[in-house]
Amino acid sequence: HMNRDKRPDIQAGGDTHQTAGDGRPRMTTAQGTPLSDGQNSLKQGARGPTLMEDFLFREKIFHFDHERIPERVVHARGYGAHGFFETYESLSELTSADLFQRAGERTPAFVRFSTVAGNKGSADLARDVRGFAVKLYTQQGNWDIVGNNIPVFFIQDAIKFPDLIHAAKEAPDRAFPQAQTAHDNFWDFMSLMPEAIHMVMWIMSDRAIPRSFRFMEGFGVHTFRMVNAEGEARFVKFHWKPKQGLQSVTWPEAVGINGADPDFHRRDLWEAIQFGDLPEWELGLQVFDDEFANRFAFDILDPTKIVPEEEVPVRRVGRLVLDRVVDNFFAETEQVAFHTGNIVPGIDFTDDPLLQGRNFSYLDTQLKRLGGPNFTHLPVNAPKCPFHHFQQDGHMAMANPSGRANYEPNSWSGAEGGPREDPTGFQSVPVAAPGPKVRERSESFADHYSQARQFYISQTPVEQAHMAAALVFELSKVEHPEIRARLVGHLRHVNEELAGEVCDGLGMDMPEAPVPAREPIPDLPPSDALSILKNG
Ligand code: HEM
Repeated sequence: HMNRDKRPDIQAGGDTHQTAGDGRPRMTTAQGTPLSDGQNSLKQGARGPTLMEDFLFREKIFHFDHERIPERVVHARGYGAHGFFETYESLSELTSADLFQRAGERTPAFVRFSTVAGNKGSADLARDVRGFAVKLYTQQGNWDIVGNNIPVFFIQDAIKFPDLIHAAKEAPDRAFPQAQTAHDNFWDFMSLMPEAIHMVMWIMSDRAIPRSFRFMEGFGVHTFRMVNAEGEARFVKFHWKPKQGLQSVTWPEAVGINGADPDFHRRDLWEAIQFGDLPEWELGLQVFDDEFANRFAFDILDPTKIVPEEEVPVRRVGRLVLDRVVDNFFAETEQVAFHTGNIVPGIDFTDDPLLQGRNFSYLDTQLKRLGGPNFTHLPVNAPKCPFHHFQQDGHMAMANPSGRANYEPNSWSGAEGGPREDPTGFQSVPVAAPGPKVRERSESFADHYSQARQFYISQTPVEQAHMAAALVFELSKVEHPEIRARLVGHLRHVNEELAGEVCDGLGMDMPEAPVPAREPIPDLPPSDALSILKNG
């Protein structure tokens, strides 16, 4: 201060120098040492070298140097908000999950919406799937429904996920495109992956360019199980139905919005919540038993298939309201860790091979992304119910168990002995093993075209025209004619008219259709549940 008082002329930051007071706290280092000057490094002579001794400088720069963590390997760009889930009525006949036992019960929630392929800085209105990840902080642990805005997925087995994502994200040599489906690698992979064709129809539909996060449906995609207190298990599919309705933009609108405001979707969510126009979704359940599963035309373990709402109606059991933006984007939205493996008593998995793989992948990636095994200590990830375990140590351990015992069984009594198991805790449904160990796909997963067609014929003519235009636009970006031909070959099994329109649009001859792994079902009726306009 002496120096500054004497030489105001050369203190560039002199008049902007801000001091504590007026209710503003005193600035300190991370160690709590009060800071007299954060604007000038310590020098040997005002024009001399900066001194290694300057711990204030070193701490500030060191911390800045380490601000970045890896972005998510997929779903890197996202936006989150807090809210609550409210149960309409007790579902105790279906599930023992604590959050569904009492009508009117409110469970805190955190939701993160995302695009899949683009990096963290990409534009919001890319043609892409949207993530719809919900963390429910129940009184019996955190339950994550890590879903998308499209009810099916590209692949049937998680072992293909790295290939799918490599093909969808930027090409390794040229590093583009960053946020769109329109390129050779993506369409090459799609054309070689007939199981993806149903999902291709969805991402070429208006669903892939939502007006905002508030106007999207969400889906758990896989078949899960609900288990009641008697141990009776039923299958369930999860749906989030937007109270705002279902709305999309057209491709030219999306392109314009991306140019004018690439943050359009996150701004929309922020503003809606800040202005009190709270977005709301209803949780829908499609519940069915073994008898339905056995007679259904498709395998309920196949994540490339839906269960039509005509066959199993959606029962609305509660509502999700988003009512609070985050205090800090990084602390909450960036560090939140969703995981399909986070389930609670009353919920269970099925053997969907995509779900089984996801149950390995999320913890594994978060270990790297969040720098160690203790990310459950972060407030956004920590349960909001009491929790006690013997996990300890590791990087950034902020909540080591207290007391003497850190192992079980132990013979210490009272508080010294620490937590004990509870036989009424989580139980897996004792499902019988279905067969020998094989590296195979079930025959029941082999029909790739019927539901793709069902989806297409369910769309209104306007929506169908959008799909044809999207296919023409996307495939027109593909340089290699054989990739286009292979893709259109699959389209012929979906709908000959659509395939013809796409050929016309691309100025190409109708290609051969591939031999299907299984003949499509010819007379599958359209599904009302699949049209945006009817739903919206
Ligand atoms: C992230 C959904 C398939 C691996 C996400 C996120 C969502 C999601 C919503 C973003 C979570 C967030 O907001 O933080 C889905 C859906 C799938 C699917 C609906 C299929 C039905 C898979 C598969 C794998 C996988 C098959 C791997 C085998 C990942 C990874 C992340 C991720 C590694 C990044 C997680 C993180 O860094 O925290 N997924 N995903 N996903 N997903 Fe998936």
